[in-house]
Amino acid sequence: MTKILNPKQAIVALDFNSYEEANKLTKYLDPEKFRLKIGKQLFSNEGPFILDKFHKEGFEIFLDLKLHDIPNTVYKALKNIYGHGVWMSNIHLLGGKEMINAAQKARLESNKEAFLIGVTILTSLDETQLKLIGFKDKVPQLVKKLASEAKNALLDGVVCSAQEAKELKKTFGKDFVLVTPGIRINSQKGDQSRVTTLKEAINYGSDYLVLGREISKAKDIPQMIKNIESYII
Ligand code: C5P
Repeated sequence: MTKILNPKQAIVALDFNSYEEANKLTKYLDPEKFRLKIGKQLFSNEGPFILDKFHKEGFEIFLDLKLHDIPNTVYKALKNIYGHGVWMSNIHLLGGKEMINAAQKARLESNKEAFLIGVTILTSLDETQLKLIGFKDKVPQLVKKLASEAKNALLDGVVCSAQEAKELKKTFGKDFVLVTPGIRINSQKGDQSRVTTLKEAINYGSDYLVLGREISKAKDIPQMIKNIESYII
């Protein structure tokens, strides 16, 4: 197997309701090889307790709450979030300059080493829907505009489709961090969403690859994890 992944470059999404459910998967994960992504589903049920629990098990966590609110609220929420020692968190770049700067201030005051990244345009939105609410640009242009807001505010990078990664790396430089969901291990699987294989994502310049249903819905989870581990250097 070609070794293409660095340790901890793959982030496993824990899209579950409880610690017990998530643990059926995480018990097979080595914290030296994988990071975890905790999103709204698990966090809204378990609360910050879940962060402490996985931290104690040795995992680094991307807390994916995609914050979007007035600057003061985002600032205060992120102070709490980084106070829990998370490795990475994120905001919606559509929240505007002031909100982005407030988020950056919270991160810098709490933990300069932690990552703060932006969400550009949700992959669930298409041009028709965006037009309906008044956006005139095409999606790639909007994504670039919003990514440049992130770059100007000195955020670490953005969440994007791996298919946008090449262009974003070219425009914003190799240090601009790209986190890419929608990863499939080998084949495109005829999925209707814009998915990318592990190898393609790496070639396009993705820095961190989010693996969701590819692991959680695998017929044999331990085997799938072993399969992914075989790509790790
Ligand atoms: O691999 P899969 O499609 O299951 O990945 C879904 C995960 O990626 C979910 O946790 C979802 O919240 C996240 N995601 C994201 N940003 C997107 C698309 C998906 O964070 N634009």
